[in-house]
Amino acid sequence: MAKTIIDCRKISKTYVNGDVKTTVLKGVSFTIAEGEFVAVIGPSGSGKSTLMHILGALDTPTDGEYRLDGVNVANLNDNQLAEIRSQKIGFVFQSFNLLARATVLRNVELPLVYTKVPADQRENLAKRALKSAGLDEDRYRNRSNQLSGGQQQRVAIARALINNPSIILADEPTGNLDQKTGRVVLNTFQQLNDAGRTIVLITHDQYVAEHANRIIHIRDGNILEDQPNKPLQARMEEDL
Ligand SMILES: Nc1ncnc2c1ncn2[C@@H]1O[C@H](COP(=O)(O)OP(=O)(O)OP(=O)(O)O)[C@@H](O)[C@H]1O
Ligand SMILES: [Mg+2]
Repeated sequence: MAKTIIDCRKISKTYVNGDVKTTVLKGVSFTIAEGEFVAVIGPSGSGKSTLMHILGALDTPTDGEYRLDGVNVANLNDNQLAEIRSQKIGFVFQSFNLLARATVLRNVELPLVYTKVPADQRENLAKRALKSAGLDEDRYRNRSNQLSGGQQQRVAIARALINNPSIILADEPTGNLDQKTGRVVLNTFQQLNDAGRTIVLITHDQYVAEHANRIIHIRDGNILEDQPNKPLQARMEEDL
């Protein structure tokens, strides 16, 4: 049995703004083992991004317990949270979040600036991550605003890979891409999963979710369904 890397125990999240309280997650429990490829699907406003922020130790639950690789994140201070994030998690967002005028290499190297990795090794690590993310080498010295959406998302994936994290958390990573480019990005996640990384893919799109080995349905802050899934790619190969 693979070890549990993500462990949510009755997690709730309530946002308080003035007198208004909004409970967004209502006692969510599930575990994810190392090496899984899980999609979390749900309509807009169902609590997906809120959940991702908790899984990524960017935020803490109001109630319940979240254990990331055996560590209860509630016991960590801000520095320790930053450290566990940079060691274990790679984030990919819908809007890429790249520095527009910095080169591809510079964007990917950025997370290393906060680590002990010496400057002369950063570029090689960035190149390796870009290779894993499947970006053509002739783009490496372009500024990120000179790239297509699909290429920018590959740079963002490379940046998420640079610290060699065991978990990749992706929030609507294909939301700004056309279907064909989206498929290429989804195949990249598949390859990263084949190489042993744990992938949590957040989406509102059933087609996107079908690429995962397991689909968790979330609705109004509750888990409706949590089922294994035969990924689209495996089904297509069977049909050939
Ligand atoms: N900081 C906050 N303060 C108050 N309410 C919030 C806050 N952040 C999110 N919410 C509310 O929590 C609910 C869930 O938001 P969340 O971003 O998790 O949804 P989502 O499933 O990611 O939606 P989408 O698919 O549109 O991205 C929404 O109703 C949102 O308005
Ligand atoms: Mg969201």
